[in-house]
Amino acid sequence: MNSWIRLTTSSLSYPRHRPLFYFLGLSFILIGFYHHFIAPTSVVTLDEVFDTAAPQLPDKVWDERAAQVRKAFEHAYHGYERYAMPHDELKPLLDRPIDNFNGWGVTLVDSLDTMLLMGLNDEFTRALAVVEKADFALPKNQFAPFFETVIRYLGGLLSAYALSNNTVLLQRADDLAVKLDTVFNTTSGFPFFAVNTVTGFTRGPQLGILAEIASLQMEYTYLAKATGKIQHARRAGKIIKALSKANLDMTGGMFPVRWNISSSEPYGSHMSVGAQADSAHEYLLKQYLLSGRTDKVNLEMYLRTTTYIITQLMFISPNRHLVYVTGRDDSKSGKPGLPSQVLEHLSCFLPGLLALGVHTLPLDDLESLGIDFASLHSGRLSEDGLKAISGYSLKDLHLWAAQSLAETCWLTYADQPTGLGPEEVVFTSSWQAKKDTLWIDAMNRWKKSGARGAPPGLGKKTPILYTEEERLRGGGKGRDYAVKKPGYLLRPETVESLYLLWRVTGDHRWRERGWRIFEAIEREAKTKSGYASLRTVAIKPSYQDDSMPRNDDPIPLDKWVFNTEAHPLPVFEWSAEERHELAIYF
Ligand SMILES: *[C@@H]1O[C@H](CO)[C@@H](O)[C@H](O)[C@H]1NC(C)=O
Ligand SMILES: *[C@@H]1O[C@H](CO)[C@@H](O)[C@H](O)[C@H]1NC(C)=O
Ligand SMILES: *[C@@H]1O[C@H](CO)[C@@H](O)[C@H](O)[C@H]1NC(C)=O
Repeated sequence: MNSWIRLTTSSLSYPRHRPLFYFLGLSFILIGFYHHFIAPTSVVTLDEVFDTAAPQLPDKVWDERAAQVRKAFEHAYHGYERYAMPHDELKPLLDRPIDNFNGWGVTLVDSLDTMLLMGLNDEFTRALAVVEKADFALPKNQFAPFFETVIRYLGGLLSAYALSNNTVLLQRADDLAVKLDTVFNTTSGFPFFAVNTVTGFTRGPQLGILAEIASLQMEYTYLAKATGKIQHARRAGKIIKALSKANLDMTGGMFPVRWNISSSEPYGSHMSVGAQADSAHEYLLKQYLLSGRTDKVNLEMYLRTTTYIITQLMFISPNRHLVYVTGRDDSKSGKPGLPSQVLEHLSCFLPGLLALGVHTLPLDDLESLGIDFASLHSGRLSEDGLKAISGYSLKDLHLWAAQSLAETCWLTYADQPTGLGPEEVVFTSSWQAKKDTLWIDAMNRWKKSGARGAPPGLGKKTPILYTEEERLRGGGKGRDYAVKKPGYLLRPETVESLYLLWRVTGDHRWRERGWRIFEAIEREAKTKSGYASLRTVAIKPSYQDDSMPRNDDPIPLDKWVFNTEAHPLPVFEWSAEERHELAIYF
């Protein structure tokens, strides 16, 4: 998912302002939860890892909930229309517009697909009128941050096109991509940080950020497919090829955060699953799925990356047995550095991604795809990882990782008096006598001793609410973690993961938890004109229809893939001719 923190690492930084459209993106996923049409596509039973399955609530309840989510969207979007359209955003406490996102109306573009899904035709028509007139121009001294522009504007336009067949939207997407195109004027084909859409001048450092250089594949290949302009797919293909050929011995097969955009080589050994990296990992699997499962190069990178994450970046806490994922610092030794022990909200996309992989891939029969799993791994750390997971069903392992991580992400919400999760928590610290352990080591001990009971990290866990006194005393004793950054920024990662877990496992508990989060947002974050972020989730109070159209599953998981801003794009297949033209990466 997106990260504003990421932007501050570059020469052009944006204010850390909490945009209303974060909420609008969130509500797209929420509506998926409650919309009755989406029956879970169950592939696994959870009886062996959970005590009981949550009872299924009657459809009527979910219909009412869907109506409430729709009302929340209307509340936020009408606030934007009234006080801010066609500017980028509404400041939900001041009721004033702000343009800090190229000024092309990012809120309305980002919301087009949600309006289509919710059947908000009047709102859609009004927004379309703005889109039709958009010229995507910028003053000479202003630059569009490429990554954010792609995942929101391009992704929003393409998704709305795919859902409506309205060719104006596709035309605008193509216009925008053409205006951005000089951003690829590097020797490697990796994009610069930013570009002026009028002059074509580019800005940005030579060392690029993984998420920013490698989160355009889905948008650019679907754009190529829909327009027939194969050159857009070549932009993506060049990056995919460079990533797949990169020498990753130093990081054990994992992509580091920094890359030299002149040489397309990795730089340093700082690794992250959250800020600065998240969507690049996410797109490996999603690009494979979007391409009608033809883009095997991306699938292989996904398998290698997840082996590294599962064996080197996932830990389990000593008392509550919370499984979490963390990054590794840069190190001068030529080897990956120490784990940061920070779990970022941004990293909470991972359980959903792993669940999606479990649902869509023959993880225990990769030979059927012509993939030799062992040969994907090279370099010592990578081979260590491979050894650590041998003897498991890969499918079980990925599912357990997904479930236990999602549980932790959920508990960081449920532990707070506001019911909303903080931006960052930190595990292992001086208050703990016992150290956190690599999850895979705990797994191997569990297996060695007969694999009795639930695997480490699974099984029943209860939220721990601190009293105000305990909170002020600080530390993280009872919970195994301390809150590092207490803000709640209306981010969608956790909700999206709960959604995917529910779809994949059919366990209604995940769905119910998504509802609890929605209720907390309504209670804590709602303002007169929209929804605002919270400065802290740890203190309470923080501060201050009509039912849905009923049709059959319009966004089935095997036909649509969500980009990193939750814009669904339809799965497609290249023709033989297109494949030939794209020889660069097939
Ligand atoms: C868009 O066009 C496709 C292909 O012709 C069709 O399958 C789909 O139903 C159309 N969608 C809408 C919303 O009209
Ligand atoms: C591309 O980069 C080259 C070398 O830096 C420069 O000379 C050229 O003007 C650039 N082209 C565009 C279209 O910006
Ligand atoms: C990036 O790569 C270029 C071309 O190989 C090289 O000249 C430059 O020194 C590299 N930059 C860094 C920061 O390593």
